[in-house]
Amino acid sequence: QAFFKPIQSVAPPSATSRRTKVSIVGAGNVGMAIAQTILTQDLVDELALVDAKPDMLRGEMLDLQHAAAFLPRTRILASTDYSVTECSDLCIVTAGARQMPGESRLGLVQRNVALFRSIIPPLAKFSPDSVILIVSNPVDVLTYVAWKLSGFPPNRVIGSGTNLDTSRFQFLLADHLDVNAQDVQAYIVGEHGDSSVALWSSISVGGVPILSFLDKHQIPYEKQMLEGIHEKVVGGAYEVINLKGYTSWAIGYSVASLARCITRDQRRIHPVSVLARGFYGIKDEDIFLSLPVQLGRSGVVGVANVCMTDEEAGRLRASAEAILEVQSQLGI
Ligand code: NAI
Ligand code: 2OP
Repeated sequence: QAFFKPIQSVAPPSATSRRTKVSIVGAGNVGMAIAQTILTQDLVDELALVDAKPDMLRGEMLDLQHAAAFLPRTRILASTDYSVTECSDLCIVTAGARQMPGESRLGLVQRNVALFRSIIPPLAKFSPDSVILIVSNPVDVLTYVAWKLSGFPPNRVIGSGTNLDTSRFQFLLADHLDVNAQDVQAYIVGEHGDSSVALWSSISVGGVPILSFLDKHQIPYEKQMLEGIHEKVVGGAYEVINLKGYTSWAIGYSVASLARCITRDQRRIHPVSVLARGFYGIKDEDIFLSLPVQLGRSGVVGVANVCMTDEEAGRLRASAEAILEVQSQLGI
């Protein structure tokens, strides 16, 4: 109860307006970068944080609350108890171990699967109609695990996948072609990580299909140069982790872009990790990997039919095999 009311009430606040709530589990480097990007972009009415470390968590909550005078009005909550996430529209999971310099994402799997057994069931219980968005690594395998543990339909369980790799790709291509990264239409698909696949054949800038333009005008380019750009995408996270210990800002923006698309029902196409069975020749396996999909309030709305060359389709298949090999050892 307020001790003094500076505003004299004229009518009760609207009870019908729809409130948007996002919860983030894991208030480390990545969780806080996502939280701060979501707040500055005015995406939610309520933001709930969960972490296993109560003091650090309360400190992060207070630090964000103290920025209230500079931010859109958002209720910020935090607790180690999952009831704080109740009635979320979107639950984002960033909790867990991260890579040491030189370590691969797939090397984290056993540690993070164990954590997910205590994270996913309470999230699903308190927000049974939400979309669950996994960020913790290895993101494709953990999205499969979250799908199994949640009991949710597959359209409501996604992984941030290659949305970030694609941004790295767009940045490098834009730099190479001297254009704005937002004008580069390009996708990385498959595993978020070492076996990711660059879809060179469908790259376009301002409506100009790059490779067929070069072919048509007989402008020579070296395949090695293309491979070099993809290698920089794959090596990008390793380089940042070597230099600063973790990655945070780009994944913060990447996940905020997904949160915007989902909570505002934007129906944009994002390369994210989804149940791939039935698409692009993946027939019988329950496997999550990134494909360009349309996202909205209900999660995955559709999967784009991108034309791939035989070589690209073969690489996607190899990426699926790499994920399956790890997944098959989980016993989930
Ligand atoms: P961090 O160590 O800074 O944060 C992890 C947080 O998880 C810590 O605050 C820890 O207390 C919390 N935590 C651990 N167990 C928990 C539990 N049972 N319940 C609740 N909270 C728990 O690590 P960072 O840098 O934030 O990375 C987090 C994860 O995100 C890693 O797995 C990393 O590999 C992944 N990542 C994924 C990216 C992607 O594109 N998918 C990009 C960058 C990181
Ligand atoms: C990244 O790509 C490490 O998966 C993390 O930034």
